[in-house]
Amino acid sequence: MSELQWTDAAAVDDVPADDVIAVLVGGNEVALYSVEGNVYATDNICTHGHARLCEGFLEGHEIECPLHQGKFDVRSGKPTCAPVTEAIRSYPVKIEGGRVFLSLG
Ligand code: FES
Repeated sequence: MSELQWTDAAAVDDVPADDVIAVLVGGNEVALYSVEGNVYATDNICTHGHARLCEGFLEGHEIECPLHQGKFDVRSGKPTCAPVTEAIRSYPVKIEGGRVFLSLG
């Protein structure tokens, strides 16, 4: 098994509690979510259309797309509400020294 490569994405303090922000990591926009003290990461662009999830509404572990109100579980990227049917890519997260690291694979 190969070791995961970790990329520094943000300071933990940059991600407001129970909210979502977008960061640029390796040329891609990634959404970072803070839910109940944990940080999760997915691609920022909805799989249904060209909408930025960082402009959506985070409720619990679900992010609602601002365009057609589709929803994803931010832990897995799985769709939880129509019209989205395709999962969004999610990334492993680790917190170290007050920083958020992502494994972009
Ligand atoms: Fe996200 Fe349509 S663009 S639900």
